[in-house]
Amino acid sequence: MNEVIETLLNHRSIRKFKNTKLTSTQIDCIVEAAQQASTSSYMMAYTIIGVTDDSLKASLAEVSGQPYVKENGHLLVFCADLNRQTHSAPPEVSLKMKENLENSEHFLVSAIDAALAAQNAAIAAESMGLGICYLGSLRNDIARVDELLALPPHVIPLFGMAIGEPDHLPDRKPRLPKQAVYFENQYQFHDEAVQEFDKRIASYYQQRSSNNRSDTWTQQMHRRFSKTIRMDVTDLVQKKGFNKR
Ligand SMILES: Cc1cc2nc3c(=O)[nH]c(=O)nc-3n(C[C@H](O)[C@H](O)[C@H](O)COP(=O)(O)O)c2cc1C
Repeated sequence: MNEVIETLLNHRSIRKFKNTKLTSTQIDCIVEAAQQASTSSYMMAYTIIGVTDDSLKASLAEVSGQPYVKENGHLLVFCADLNRQTHSAPPEVSLKMKENLENSEHFLVSAIDAALAAQNAAIAAESMGLGICYLGSLRNDIARVDELLALPPHVIPLFGMAIGEPDHLPDRKPRLPKQAVYFENQYQFHDEAVQEFDKRIASYYQQRSSNNRSDTWTQQMHRRFSKTIRMDVTDLVQKKGFNKR
């Protein structure tokens, strides 16, 4: 155990923040840590947008339906970005590059690069005593977020991150047992490990300090995938020049 591992194991999403803005030193430190994440073939295929304009924050909060998108110390939006890659290429080169740039491989590359940078940002913030919450809810209306942030072709919003001084300390949420997610050499499925987790999570949901309910992880997943959500994402993604082939 060391301080880094302690920070990692102490993670819980924070959804209520004190009314204190992050300092520019804190923001710079978080962004620098994000930038130092590994990046596929040195592509750095992401952009981070810090939202400082209150009315823009309010519009993003409206898309997400979550108050902590507006009420936090700082709001970041992580975007997949392949826009820089073709810059200043002659038209015939740019055309040739697009064939490759717009495939599924580079959609994955840019989303993975952005996620790695984001998780570095999260750990950096948490190591400073701040709390974070990722915000996939910005994809409730991905086209509106794309427009609000004035993103050019080959740039799409992926998720946000609210950061700030925690104003609550939620329970740490249990994770699947190691036997359910870590296998050696070949894939295995351990039904018992998931069943055991369901029992554990049912009692966690019954006993936790807020928002307690009767539920299991398996039931949650069945509910989640039984109804379609955000079916407009494919359209926007492809319109912006990602994942076209
Ligand atoms: C990419 C991503 C998007 C998320 N989007 C949201 C969100 O929109 N709203 C929210 O309240 N939590 C969001 N979360 C937080 C998860 O719900 C949370 O990490 C998960 O339930 C585990 O809880 P914990 O982080 O407290 O351990 C998101 C997490 C990730 C990784």
